[in-house]
Amino acid sequence: MGKGFYISNTVVIVGIVLAAGALCTITALPAAITSLPTTEPWDQWRLPQTLSPQTYNITMWPRLEPDPNGLYIFTGLSKVVFRCVIDTDLILIHSNKLNMTKPPILTALGSSPAPAIALTVMHPLTQYMAIHLTEKLIAGESYELYTEFIGELSDDLGGFYRSEYYENGVKKVVATTQMEATDARKAFPCFDEPAMKAIFHITLLHDPATVALSNGVMIDKVDLTVDGTLVTKTTFAPTVVMSTYLVAFVVSDFGFTEQNTEDLQIRIFARQDAINAGQGQYALNVTGPMFKFFEKYYNVPYPLPKSDQVGLPDFSFGAMENWGLITYRETALLYDEEISSNENKERIVTVIAHELAHQWFGNLVTVRWWNDLWLNEGFATYGEYIGADSAEPDWNIKDLIVLNDVHKVFAIDALATSHPLSSKEEEILRPEQIKEVFDTISYSKGASVLRMLSSFLTEAVFIQGVQTYLDYFKFSNTVYTDLWEHLQTAVDISGTSLPKTVQEIMDRWVLQMGFPVVTINTATGDITQEHFLLDPETKPDRPSEFNYEWFVPISWTKKEAAQPLYWLLQKTELSDKMKISGDEWILANINVTGYYRVNYDTENWQRLLNVLQTSRQSIPIINRAQLIDDSFNLAKAGIIETTLALRTTLFLASETEYMPWESALKNLDYFYLMFDRTEVYGPMQTYVGKQVKNLFDYFTTLTHWEDVPPGHTDQYNQVNALRVACSTGLENCTTLVKTWFQKWMDDPTVNLIKVNLRSAVYCSAIAAGGEKEWDFAWQEFEKATVASEKDKLRAAMTCATEPWLLNRYLQYTLDPNKIRKQDATSTITSIASNVVGQPLAWDFVRANWEYIFTQYGAGSFAFADLIDGITKRLSTPFELQQLIQFRDDYAHIGFGSGTLALEQSIERTQANIKWVEKNQQANGHALEERNSTQRVEAESQLGLDDLGSLQEAEVNLLVKPDLMHFTQ
Ligand code: BES
Ligand code: ZN
Repeated sequence: MGKGFYISNTVVIVGIVLAAGALCTITALPAAITSLPTTEPWDQWRLPQTLSPQTYNITMWPRLEPDPNGLYIFTGLSKVVFRCVIDTDLILIHSNKLNMTKPPILTALGSSPAPAIALTVMHPLTQYMAIHLTEKLIAGESYELYTEFIGELSDDLGGFYRSEYYENGVKKVVATTQMEATDARKAFPCFDEPAMKAIFHITLLHDPATVALSNGVMIDKVDLTVDGTLVTKTTFAPTVVMSTYLVAFVVSDFGFTEQNTEDLQIRIFARQDAINAGQGQYALNVTGPMFKFFEKYYNVPYPLPKSDQVGLPDFSFGAMENWGLITYRETALLYDEEISSNENKERIVTVIAHELAHQWFGNLVTVRWWNDLWLNEGFATYGEYIGADSAEPDWNIKDLIVLNDVHKVFAIDALATSHPLSSKEEEILRPEQIKEVFDTISYSKGASVLRMLSSFLTEAVFIQGVQTYLDYFKFSNTVYTDLWEHLQTAVDISGTSLPKTVQEIMDRWVLQMGFPVVTINTATGDITQEHFLLDPETKPDRPSEFNYEWFVPISWTKKEAAQPLYWLLQKTELSDKMKISGDEWILANINVTGYYRVNYDTENWQRLLNVLQTSRQSIPIINRAQLIDDSFNLAKAGIIETTLALRTTLFLASETEYMPWESALKNLDYFYLMFDRTEVYGPMQTYVGKQVKNLFDYFTTLTHWEDVPPGHTDQYNQVNALRVACSTGLENCTTLVKTWFQKWMDDPTVNLIKVNLRSAVYCSAIAAGGEKEWDFAWQEFEKATVASEKDKLRAAMTCATEPWLLNRYLQYTLDPNKIRKQDATSTITSIASNVVGQPLAWDFVRANWEYIFTQYGAGSFAFADLIDGITKRLSTPFELQQLIQFRDDYAHIGFGSGTLALEQSIERTQANIKWVEKNQQANGHALEERNSTQRVEAESQLGLDDLGSLQEAEVNLLVKPDLMHFTQ
C-alpha cells in the first residue's frame, strides 16, 4: 500500500546509498488538520514572493527492486538556483514525504557570501521545507540550494511512483511520474507553483537494462558503478522554461515505435508485448499530422525537438501533458485493430488531441494560478474535437461536443450548488481544493463557452486573438482576462460588430455559475431569459453581481431559413421578428453553439414536434438531440409537462441518426434510475422496445451484424440498437447475443464477437447469466493483453444480477492485485449504476469510507466521481437521510476532492425526491389501473400516436449507458 513515510520512520533510511549524515528537524503531521496554526509564512498555502527559481539540476535514482524491508524507494540530489527578489532570511521550498538525507547546503552565486543555515524544519501540512538562515539573502543576488533526499516509490499514482505488470510471467516495475497539480514536491524539493517557471536539467540513474525518459532529449548516456552497483546515467537536454507540474521522468523496459520528421521526433512507448503487437501504431500515425495541425492552428511552433508518449499500466487520469513526455493510461493510447472498438479509437485520438493542445495551452502559456485552470482545461477539451477532426475528418466528431460536454455539464451547472468557471485565487489554496477544480465545470463548461465564443466571434477572429495571445505570453503566465484583451484586439481589427466588449459578454458566463433558459414566445415575440435551475425551489448558493442575467447570442431559423444572430441583452425583450403565424416555426440555438437551453410557447413546441414527425431533416441533427435534451430537462425543472418531453422521442421510431438517439437514451436513463424498482418498468420497456425495433431492423438489414456500418456515429448507433433491443427483450437480439457469447465460452481461443459490439454483448450475456459466465469473463479479463479489452470485460462484469457476484466484485476493487487502483472508482460506480448493484455499492462505500479515504486518498481514488456515481439513483427521503448521515458520520475524516460532489449529490437527491413524488402522484391512478397484465398487453398494442396519452412515469429504459462510457 502506498503509504508516505516521514523521517521519523528512520528505519527505512538504513542501507540507502545516498542516505548519510545528519537528519533534519521535523514536525509531526497532526492527526486531524483543520486550520492553519499561525500567520507565519510556512503556515500559508502560497509561497512568498521573496525567491524566484531559475534552474534546477536534479539527479533521480529510482530502485525498481524492493529494499530489504520490501520497500521501493528513490533517491535524489537537487541543486536549485534561485534569485532573491525581496530580502529574506527564510527559504521556503515545497517538499512532501521526502526525507532529507543530508543537511541542505546553501551557496551564493554572486559577490556577497551565503548566510549560514540555522535550522531546517519540515512542515508536512503545508508541505514545505523551511530553511531558516542566520542572515538575510540579498535582493538581486542568486543562490544555489543543494539537497539530498530519499522518497518512497510507492504505488499511489502520484509524484514519482511505480507501476507494475507481468510480461511472460515476469513481474516488471516501471518508475514514472504524475506531478500535476501539486506532487512535484513529492519527487524533489521545488517551488511548486505554476508561475514559478524554471529550466530543468535532469539526470536519471537506472539499471542498464532499462530506458530512461524525461522532458528533454537524451544528450548523454554512460555506465558507471555506484557503491558496487552498475548503473546507467542518462542525462537530458535542459528543458525550456516551464512549470514544475510538467516535469516528468519514466524508467522502464518498454519498447517503442517511432516516426521522425525533419524537425520532430515522435515515439510511442509501452509494454514490449503491446508495442510488438503494433498497438502503438495508430497513436503514432495520428500524432505527427496533429502536431502539424496545431502548429498551424495556433501559429506558434512547437518548441521542442521531440514528443514521447508513454502508455502506462497504472495511471490515475486519462493522460498528462508533461512537456515532451506525455503519459497516458494504456486505453487512451494503445489501439489494436483486431480487438479495439471505434469508441476506443475515438478515445485515443481525442485524448492525444487534448494533450497536444496543452503543449500550447498550459505548457507554453500557463495560467498564473489554479483558479484559472478552466482556461487551460477548457481549451484542451475544445482542442480534443478540432485536433481529432483534423486526424479523422470523416467522423463529424466536432458535433459530439454537444453530447459529451455541453449536455453533460448542463446537468451539473443547473444545480444551485454549482460554481462559476473562475474562482478567486485565494479561494483555491489547499491541494484538495486544487484537485477539486479539475471538474466537469472546468473541462466541459470551459470548452462549451469557448466554443460559443468562437461561434459568435467567428472562428477566424477567435483564432486570430488566440494566436496573438499565445505568441505574446509564450513561456510565461496569464490570467484569463489577458485572453479577452487579445480577442478584443482581434475583434477591433476585423471590424466585427459586437453589442458589448468581449470582456463584458464573457464576464457573465465566467463569473456567475449556471446558464439561462431562453424562452421564445412566438405568439407575442417576447424573448426572456431565466437562470435555469433543475429544482426551481432552490436558490443559488451565491449571489451574482450580474443578477443571473447573461448576454445571450441567439442563433435561430424561421422554418429552415437562417436568421441573423439575435443578441438578448436584457431579461426580457420584444422582437417582432420572432412573432410568427401560419405554418411557420422557430428553432433557436442552432447546432447548440450557445451555452443555454431554449423553451417555446406550446404552439411552437407543437409545430416542432410535427416537423420532427413529418420532415425531421428540416431540423439539423444536433438540434434533434437538443430538442430532446432541452425538453426533458425543462420538464424536470417543472417548466413544461413531462408528456411534452416524451413526445420529443416519438420520431425516434423512424430515426437512425446517433445523436438524437443517444440524447434520448441518456434522458430516458433518468426515468430508469428513478423508476426501475417500481411498477413503471414494464410499460416503459414496451414503449422503448417498440421505438428501437426499427433501428434494430435497420442495422440488421444494413449489416446483418457482420459488417461494420460505414459512418463513425452509425457504428455507435448500431451498438445502441443492439444494447437497447436486447435490454428490452427483443428476441431476435437476445438470441443473437447469447449465441455469440456461448460460442466464445465453448472455445475461448476464438472470440468472433465483433469488436464494436463486445461491450454490449458481454454485458447482456453476463446480466442474463450467472456464476459460470461471470467467472469466464474474469478469466478472460485476467488473460487479456489489450487494455481496452480488459476494460470491456471489467465493465461487463458489473452487469451481473446476482448480488453475491457483485459483492464479491466490490471486494476485489480494494485489492490492487485484482483490480488496479486506477480502475477502482470506475468499477464501483459502474456497479452502482446497475439496479441490483446500487444498494450494495452504496453500503460498501459507506462501510469502507475511512479505509478508502486514508489508503487511497493520495490520488488514486477519484472521490468526486465516486460520490457522484454511487448516489445518482438516490431518490427517497430515507436515502436522503442516509446521505446526510454519511456526510455527518465522516465529517471528521473528510471527503477531500469529493466535498463539493457530496453537496451536489444532496441537492440532486432532494430534486429527485420531488420529481419522483410529483410524477408518481400525477400518475398514481393510471398506474394502478395499468398494473394488470391485461393492461400492459393492451399497451403494447398502442400506436405511436397514442404515446402522448402515456403518463410520464411510465417511461422507463432498460439500458445501462454508463457501462458504455468508462470514462478513463
Ligand atoms: N492535465 C490533465 C491531467 C490531470 C487531471 C492532472 C487532473 C491533474 C489532475 C490532463 O490534460 C487531462 O485533462 N486529462 C484528462 C483526459 C482528457 C482527454 C479529458 C483525464 O485524465 O481525464
Ligand atoms: Zn487536460
